[in-house]
Amino acid sequence: MADDANSALDKVPFRVTNPELIPSQRYYDPAFFALENEKVWPHVWQMACRLEEIPELGDYVEYTILDKSVIIVNTRNGVKAFHNACRHRGVRLATGPGNCKSAGFICPFHGWRWNTEGENTFVFGKQVFSPELLDKAEINLVPCRIDFWAGCAFINFDNDAPGLRESLGPVADRLDARNVDKLKMDWWFGTVLPTNWKLAMEAFQEGYHTMKTHPQLHRLSALGNAYGNDADAPLLNRGLSGKQTVNMHVDFLARLGSGMGGMVHDSEVAVLEGLRDMEVPDDPLEATMAFYARAHEEVTKDGLARGAPMFDIAKVMQEVEFHAVEFMFPHFFLLPFLGAMSSYRIRPLTAETCLFEIWSLVLRPEGEAYDTPKQPTILPYDSPDFPEIPRQDYYNLPLQQLGLHAEGFKFMRLSKDSEGMISNYQRLIDGYIAGLDPAVLAKAAGIVNSGFEGPIADIGF
Ligand code: FES
Ligand SMILES: [Fe+2]
Repeated sequence: MADDANSALDKVPFRVTNPELIPSQRYYDPAFFALENEKVWPHVWQMACRLEEIPELGDYVEYTILDKSVIIVNTRNGVKAFHNACRHRGVRLATGPGNCKSAGFICPFHGWRWNTEGENTFVFGKQVFSPELLDKAEINLVPCRIDFWAGCAFINFDNDAPGLRESLGPVADRLDARNVDKLKMDWWFGTVLPTNWKLAMEAFQEGYHTMKTHPQLHRLSALGNAYGNDADAPLLNRGLSGKQTVNMHVDFLARLGSGMGGMVHDSEVAVLEGLRDMEVPDDPLEATMAFYARAHEEVTKDGLARGAPMFDIAKVMQEVEFHAVEFMFPHFFLLPFLGAMSSYRIRPLTAETCLFEIWSLVLRPEGEAYDTPKQPTILPYDSPDFPEIPRQDYYNLPLQQLGLHAEGFKFMRLSKDSEGMISNYQRLIDGYIAGLDPAVLAKAAGIVNSGFEGPIADIGF
C-alpha cells in the first residue's frame, strides 16, 4: 500500500488497527459520526427505494439520509432523482410518497412549480428578479445520480464515484441468479432503534448469536450447530433417524418462516409441509441432502405452477455460492433462502439512533394484484407485532449500545472466523474516512459484500 494511503489511514480517529478489535467509540463518538457523515455517506451508492413503490407515472418517494433528501420520481423518461430543495430559497418540495403527474411539484412558500421531469414551469412575478437568476438551467431541479439493481433505485451524491455495479462486486451476480429484480413486497416494517446504525447491522452479520438469542432456532438444528450447545457440550440432535431429521428440517424452516417473516415465505412452508413423509435414507446427513434436493425441486415447481418468475433453485444452489445473508455496503441487506427473501435497510439518524426497515419479498406472478405497501408500518422496536427473530435481536441492541459506554470497555473482540463481516466493512469505513482512491474503495466493497459468517478478509488496505 502506498505511503500516503497509509498515513491517511493512520489519521483516522478510532481506526480499526487490529482487525479483530473494533474500538467502541466508533459507535457513539460525535466526531466519528460527523466524519462518517462527511466522508462516507456522500460517496456511496445508497438503496433509495424499491421501484414497486413508484409504479405509475408521476409517483415519487422521498429518500432521506441525515440532512440530505432526494426525490425519486417515475417520469416519462424513466425513473429520475432530484435533490429535494426549491431553487428559490431552498424549501423541501416533497415529503413522503405521492404522485405529481397532474400538479407537478409546488413549493409551499412562494409557489414556484416544476413538472415531473424537474423542469421549472412557473415563477410568480418574474419581472421582480434579475433575469439571469431565472435561467432555466438555474431553476430546474438539480438531478442526483441514480442507477438501478435488484428492483431498486440507488442514488449517489458523488458524480465521480465508481459505478453501482462496480461497487457491488460479485454479490450482484449471485443475487441476479435468484431473480432478485423480480421480487415483490409482501410487507414492510420499520422501527427506530436506540443504537448506532452500525451496531444494528452487525446483529445480522453473524450466526454466532443464534444459540443464546434465538434458542428456538438452535434447538431445531437437525445436524447440530457448528458451535455446539455451548463451547464444550456435544452437538444437538444427534442420533435422529432419517425421517426425524426431515421433520426437524421442516420444523426449522417453518420456525424460520414465522419467526423471520419473509426469509422462508408461508407459500414455501406449505410446500415443505408436504415433504414430512418423504422416503429418505436413515443416515441424517444423507436424509438432509435428500430433503433439500427435494425441497428445492418442489418449491421451484410450485412457483412455476403459480406463474411466478421462479428460478431453478437446485441449479442455482449448485452453480452459485450461497450466503443466507448478503450485504451490500453500506446499509442494504438481502437474505435469500429458497425463492423468497427478507431485506433490511439501516439508516443513521443520530450517533446513537437509527431507522431499521425490514421487507418480506416474494416472487409473485407478474401483474398479480397486490396491495403493495406505500410506506413502512413503523412500530416501537419492542412491539409484539414484529416477527419473533428480529424482535429478539432488537432486545439486545439497546443494551449493547449502553454497555459500549462502560468504563474499561475499549474494544469489541471479534471471532476471526465467524464475525469477519463486521471487521471487513468497518475497515472499509476507515478507507472512506481516509479518502483513499475511489477505485480501491470500490474493489474493497466487492470483497466486503461477501456474505454471512465470513472470516476476516484482506480488503486491499
Ligand atoms: S422558497 Fe420555494 S418558492 Fe420561495
Ligand atoms: Fe439474530
